Amino acid sequence: MKKKVTKIGVLTSGGDSPGMNACVRAVVRTGIYHGLEVFGIMRGYTGMVENDIFKMEGRSVANIIQRGGTILKTSRCKEFFTPEGRKKAYDNLKKHGIDGLVIIGGDGSFRGAQIFSNEYDIPCIGLPGTIDKDIAGTDFTIGFDTAVNTAVEAIDKVRDTMDAHDRLFIIEVMGRDAGYIALHSGIATGAENILIPERKTDIEEVIRQLAEKERRHKLVNLIVVAEGDEFGGANEVGKIIQERLPQQEVRVCILGHIQRGGSPSCFDRLIASRMGYSAVECLIEGKYNVFVGIVNNRMHYTPLNDAVKKKQRISEEWMKIVKILAS
Ligand code: F6P
Repeated sequence: MKKKVTKIGVLTSGGDSPGMNACVRAVVRTGIYHGLEVFGIMRGYTGMVENDIFKMEGRSVANIIQRGGTILKTSRCKEFFTPEGRKKAYDNLKKHGIDGLVIIGGDGSFRGAQIFSNEYDIPCIGLPGTIDKDIAGTDFTIGFDTAVNTAVEAIDKVRDTMDAHDRLFIIEVMGRDAGYIALHSGIATGAENILIPERKTDIEEVIRQLAEKERRHKLVNLIVVAEGDEFGGANEVGKIIQERLPQQEVRVCILGHIQRGGSPSCFDRLIASRMGYSAVECLIEGKYNVFVGIVNNRMHYTPLNDAVKKKQRISEEWMKIVKILAS
């Protein structure tokens, strides 16, 4: 018989993503609805290690559903990845009587939760909060939709000036070692080429296509590059192409952290609310040490121990679409 959870902690960890606040709100209010005490843990695992933990009420999360960033702040805590750090974290949770945890973050945060839940008797629920969408076991991650829409809006703007000058633009988007932001924003903005880490790029073929377009006097070309691509990002790709096609006016634009900020899209608010609610239900029902995702529009639970092993795969069909539409 599992011990009933009575006091839960919630934290946001790793790179922030739009919708984290909506998710914190859902965890706090669902917890209170079920008669639980809810504690906010500041700056991810750092707050656990340093005892930066405070009691939250329903009104603590008023007026945040529309805000980007995270009211709990975030960090990547190195100390938590040491046994001493985790012991400190556990002792601090015990001081507050916290007997369940909700961790909103990416794969690094899930790794932390996995190790901690294997060592200590505090059940953990992971929720995928990352713009990178690089976690297997869920169709969506909180923040991805907003980040992609931000990238699309920015790329559309670049396209205006690109078109006015007849230039070739190489635009770099985030995603760490995943190409989802590049793939989605590239297709949505009509990119000629999309370079992602999941696929080897035949750069000779890219240059050949550009040279052929040059012969047809088509000089406006857009290439979207994932920051983790095999060449080392847009600057490097730009250098290679400029060298080989010296008559082209190549420009590079790196979108950067703009993709992580801003008000979450409706979609991100919805999945954040659904996942936050579901995380508390898991703790109430004794469904411990899982990460909550959404697959085919249904809640999907993956054991934390499995969640960190697999990577999200890019479907072959997407790649076919890119190829056909770019021709
Ligand atoms: O994981 C989210 C992310 O924004 C990645 O896309 C990017 O590589 C990384 O975080 C950037 O991290 P930082 O904000 O620490 O530079």
